[in-house]
Amino acid sequence: MGVPPSGKRFQAIANSMPKQCSLGDPSGEPCPGMTYMSRKPVITSKPMRTHHASRTAVKVGRMIVWLSRQPRLGPLVPQNILSSMERILLQVGELKPWMLRVYESPWYSRLITAIERRTIPGQALEIGLRKRFMDDETRAALARGSRQVLVVGAGLDMLCWRLAPEHPEITFVEVDHPATQALKREALDATGPRPSNLHLLGVDLARTTLEEALSGLPVWRAELPSVVIAEALLMYLEEKSVSAFLQAVHRCTGPGSLLLFTCIQNDEQGRLRLGKATRWMVEEGLRLAGEPFLWHIPERELRPFLARHGFRMDVTPERVDLHRRYVEPAGMPEVPVARYEFPVVADRE
Ligand SMILES: C[S@@+](CC[C@H](N)C(=O)[O-])C[C@H]1O[C@@H](n2cnc3c(N)ncnc32)[C@H](O)[C@@H]1O
Repeated sequence: MGVPPSGKRFQAIANSMPKQCSLGDPSGEPCPGMTYMSRKPVITSKPMRTHHASRTAVKVGRMIVWLSRQPRLGPLVPQNILSSMERILLQVGELKPWMLRVYESPWYSRLITAIERRTIPGQALEIGLRKRFMDDETRAALARGSRQVLVVGAGLDMLCWRLAPEHPEITFVEVDHPATQALKREALDATGPRPSNLHLLGVDLARTTLEEALSGLPVWRAELPSVVIAEALLMYLEEKSVSAFLQAVHRCTGPGSLLLFTCIQNDEQGRLRLGKATRWMVEEGLRLAGEPFLWHIPERELRPFLARHGFRMDVTPERVDLHRRYVEPAGMPEVPVARYEFPVVADRE
């Protein structure tokens, strides 16, 4: 943390960088789409550090707040999604008024846009749109009759907090790593009484299965149609934990349930589908944050993988392609949406 460098200095450094290269932001966090550098592979056997709250969860939140300050892109994401994220970040102390002033400044927007262009074009928008996607899909599932919503690896996401008061008859559950959840729990409790239908479970999914965790929560009923969300989570788990997660979701939800998650794209060699330098930086940033990616799968293998676990994946572009679903109808076909992390919808069979 510290005084942000001047706009000109930042812009000059950004311009001097090669393509697929990036800088840290003035908050001390990697900027949208940027991290540091490494020679170590992204797939390691070490899961998330256990002693501090997730830095990637904070990064997601800051990118949403930055997006909310962009006059053209911000309106693509509903205001309540943006403002609830800003509120929790301020509450946990991960967003400061001076940072908001930086996010609002034109030079910073130009800088981030320039960096995104060189690294992961449309990354902040992708994060904002997938929040909209999760919100839309959850609301639609509730309208179709789902009775429970489970958000796993919730981070600072506020979907349950937004929907619980609107749907007092629905059970909402958030599961997250205890270190991350402790931070959020404290912040939520400081804002007032939590809705009585919102339950928080602190669980390290590398050590405890989701099924074991839910078995300790009497309000959760395995036979009911439910929505289960794992946004930006599964890539941080080892494959055996991903399998255990899918088995648990299948056993802990009723027919007609919906599974929503995001997945990392890789190339034919099994590497992140990013330019060489960007991949290097993403990997190193995650390693430094203590949150390396542990699982990814070729996109073509995802459908059979889910089928083996009892889920039917829907690949309808109008539903799962964020650009087609949200950006083209808004009349902005030229605006990019990153694809290296993409949303997945699957019905429990
Ligand atoms: C990138 S953040 C995503 C947060 C949120 N889903 C979102 O998209 O805004 C990753 C989340 O996964 C959680 N996570 C990572 N490893 C975990 C584990 N072993 N058990 C439980 N949660 C874990 C972190 O605590 C963090 O909240």
